[in-house]
Amino acid sequence: MNADKGRVLVTGGAGFIGSHTCLALVGAGWTPIILDNFCNSSPTAIKRVSELVQRELVLVEGDIRDTDLCEKTLKDHSCEAVIHFAGLKAVGESHEKPLDYYDANVLGSHSLLRAMSAASVNRFIFSSSATVYGVPQSLPLTEDHPLAPTNPYGQTKLAVENLLRDVAQSGQGLQCAILRYFNPVGADVSTRIGEDPRGIPNNLMPYIAQVAVGRRPHLNVMGNDYDTPDGTGVRDYIHVVDLAEAHVKALERLVSHDGSFTVNLGTGTGYSVLDMVRGFEKACGKTIPYEIAKRRAGDVASMYADPALAETLLGWRASRGIDEMCRDHWNWQSANPNGYDTPVETPA
Ligand code: NAD
Ligand code: UFG
Repeated sequence: MNADKGRVLVTGGAGFIGSHTCLALVGAGWTPIILDNFCNSSPTAIKRVSELVQRELVLVEGDIRDTDLCEKTLKDHSCEAVIHFAGLKAVGESHEKPLDYYDANVLGSHSLLRAMSAASVNRFIFSSSATVYGVPQSLPLTEDHPLAPTNPYGQTKLAVENLLRDVAQSGQGLQCAILRYFNPVGADVSTRIGEDPRGIPNNLMPYIAQVAVGRRPHLNVMGNDYDTPDGTGVRDYIHVVDLAEAHVKALERLVSHDGSFTVNLGTGTGYSVLDMVRGFEKACGKTIPYEIAKRRAGDVASMYADPALAETLLGWRASRGIDEMCRDHWNWQSANPNGYDTPVETPA
């Protein structure tokens, strides 16, 4: 393990991407200090990361909207930077509960920035999303593509991006990395941490995985009449471990260079829904039953990144392909059929 490079507050560190990033941070010599309210995660995730790194990680249970708690945590642990994952992320739910989404995502980020200012912490890494681009006018999506989100969730991400750009330009010293993720999937090879959505999964890969493990009867393929090679939606799936490693690169870029930046984190390759079904079938050795359903409101035909800027700025590019994404996602799901709540089997 590398020498201690410093401490980083990781909000939402118990979540899917946050837990993998904590693992990557420790592997690169950083110490994550995790703040999470567990509204969409389990403390077991952090227990398991601690086991993997053979070290007890600091976990603060609390809400990012508690500015005093954020300030105290930053000061108590002398944090040098913040990686901000905490927030709500379900597109459909954001149409039903926009006040909750603006509250958690926009007011939450504002609270955290206030706390950082009070604690004189100036480096901020933000989980943005490809959803800020809205309907693609051209592909692949470059960072200068117009920003026009089509749902409240995406609007909250854009609002925080704008807030960050304004604060960064105000001369108060804030340096920020705005990372626009495409579609994270997969899991750490240990099978100890992975994606564990509550209720019916909104996203494709966790849904396929739950069909494969027998928790759901079949996948609904939402539309097969798009203008794509097989008629189903095309997305840029990225292995969560590649994504986690990009956060370490972004942090180290903020430490070694002045200024702020915004980058796409994707692979640059698009796969259709049926490509992912076939990839998963290969990984799990089972047939994934599916039915063609109607299009999901608000979906676009194709979305994939131009990942060139991330490579230029961060020296990072995704290295894991569809086979590893499906294999690792399946290995996690089959080892933990009910996610983190998998009961321990006791002999009869
Ligand atoms: P996740 O739900 O697994 O993780 C989010 C974590 O934040 C959870 O542990 C949750 O308990 C915590 N949290 C939420 N609100 C909080 C609050 N007010 N205070 C403290 N903790 C809080 O989600 P994820 O997939 O790991 O996503 C992480 C970030 O990346 C989110 O901001 C999300 O919007 C963004 N993102 C995710 C995707 C994706 O497809 N997974 C794509 C683009 C962007
Ligand atoms: N799909 C199905 N059946 C399902 C779920 C999804 O056919 O049960 C299809 C969708 O129609 C789409 C593709 O699978 O064509 C991917 O859908 P996801 O819901 O997995 O992903 P999205 O691209 O719609 O959205 C995700 C996150 C957003 C994020 C975006 C970034 O949910 O928060 O990726 O690109 F902004």
